[in-house]
Amino acid sequence: MIKRRKAGRIRPLGPLELGVLAELHAACFAEAWDEAALAALLALPGAFALIDQGEASGSSEATPAGFVLAWASAGEAEILSLGVRPAMRRRGMARNLLAAATTEAAQRGATRVFLEVAADNRAAQLLYLGAGFAQIGRRANYYRRPGGGAAALVLAREIAGGCTSESKIEK
Ligand SMILES: CC(C)(COP(=O)(O)OP(=O)(O)OC[C@H]1O[C@@H](n2cnc3c(N)ncnc32)[C@H](O)[C@@H]1OP(=O)(O)O)[C@@H](O)C(=O)NCCC(=O)NCCS
Repeated sequence: MIKRRKAGRIRPLGPLELGVLAELHAACFAEAWDEAALAALLALPGAFALIDQGEASGSSEATPAGFVLAWASAGEAEILSLGVRPAMRRRGMARNLLAAATTEAAQRGATRVFLEVAADNRAAQLLYLGAGFAQIGRRANYYRRPGGGAAALVLAREIAGGCTSESKIEK
């Protein structure tokens, strides 16, 4: 069901690539999910992962640059995690991964996509806002932070009728 995007860089995670996903996650997040945690998430009904496989340059092989982990089931989908390697950011990779996951979710019958983003993660909020997500809820103290917790903003986007045009995320 998952098709390669035109650029050929985004592809489904292979069955033997849990280590690739764990390494990418650790490169992107302070609190890394290990292979066992990722395997448990991928075992959820409807779960799938896509990676941006990066580009080979000269004699060096391509290094996977980013990933998205999601599930789609019973008409709904959720982005569970998304990250791009620090050196590869601000090139549109997260936007493309999010679009690819949304397309995949729609192909699996989802009409609405949900996700949670930390209230102190402005970069990710702007990414999601630009992709048509809108805030529908807030969970206090959801993420651990040194000396306290950060709230999670719950965002959603309809995918049956296209983007919502008046997305807003709280300041
Ligand atoms: C958030 C993250 C996934 C963005 O990845 P990216 O590949 O750099 O994002 P893109 O290049 O696709 O950017 C798309 C849009 O997101 C917004 N954005 C991304 N990074 C931003 C930043 N550092 N500051 C402000 N806006 C940013 C911009 O609106 C950008 O569009 P523009 O470049 O046209 O201005 C990346 O910074 C990351 O992996 N962060 C750590 C993990 C994380 O927070 N994941 C999200 C958890 S919910």
